[in-house]
Amino acid sequence: MNYRHAFHAGNFADVFKHALLTRILLYMVQKPSKMVLLDTHAGTGFYDLKSEEAQRSPEWQHGIARMADADLGAAAELFAPYLKIALQGRSEFHMNVYPGSPYVARDLLRPIDRLVLCELHGLDADTLRENMGRDKRVDVRHANGYACIKALVPPMERRGLIFIDPPFETRSEWDDMIGSVNLALGKWSSGTYVLWYPLKNGNEGNALCEALDQTKITKMLLLELQIQPVGIAGKHARTGLSGCGMVVINPPYILAQEAELMLPEMARHLALGQSAWRVEWIRQS
Ligand SMILES: C[S@@+](CC[C@H](N)C(=O)[O-])C[C@H]1O[C@@H](n2cnc3c(N)ncnc32)[C@H](O)[C@@H]1O
Repeated sequence: MNYRHAFHAGNFADVFKHALLTRILLYMVQKPSKMVLLDTHAGTGFYDLKSEEAQRSPEWQHGIARMADADLGAAAELFAPYLKIALQGRSEFHMNVYPGSPYVARDLLRPIDRLVLCELHGLDADTLRENMGRDKRVDVRHANGYACIKALVPPMERRGLIFIDPPFETRSEWDDMIGSVNLALGKWSSGTYVLWYPLKNGNEGNALCEALDQTKITKMLLLELQIQPVGIAGKHARTGLSGCGMVVINPPYILAQEAELMLPEMARHLALGQSAWRVEWIRQS
């Protein structure tokens, strides 16, 4: 396990996934019944942007730093809750820290909700436990996120979100993600699933949707952000990705409309080259 999120915290991909995760959660917590959020690849929860890792190739400078004071046009209100969470550690002149997905989720969940956080790297799991402090809603597990999906689904709450944000270090990552989601859908087709993926050749999102078990899915939305043309990934000094995307199974009905306002702003402010975005219903019953 070589991937350390500390090197990437606050980059364009974090802005994309956390801004959209915030919108999904804000909608889900409006319903009175309790919910669970399973973050299968949680990281450490909180990142020091002054650390050696974050300073080495400060990706956050082309991510959250660009969004911090940007004119976000008609999407400004939609970004506001995310930016409030993401910028809470900012002093007058410096971005000091960046919160990861566990912190974003913990901020938005209610006292009745539950947050299960899985992290396979031992040291990161310890740091995550420390960063989450004492919170009865939070269950930190030093475990494989895919095994956690299998163990948790269907959750006792019967309502919830599975957020899958792997490092894509190994060739088997796609198969692991697809296999475990297909298995989970068989037991819990009404859950909301968010599957994050990197964009390198541009076809990853379509391939992922095709591999998911369509017989169990009635609603599936694809969201993508490209910050530079596909095909130059890995050659660019500042980022190894051309963009990223997420497939959302059973999204809140409003998410597509909100993403249509938010993604153009992300494409405008986070671009490193010719940028693009995509909001597409793959299945809509
Ligand atoms: C992209 S980072 C997660 C970032 C985090 N979701 C966020 O948004 O702040 C991926 C994390 O998954 C961890 N990891 C890798 N394989 C894993 C697995 N099979 N199960 C759980 N965690 C894993 C890595 O150690 C890394 O911390």
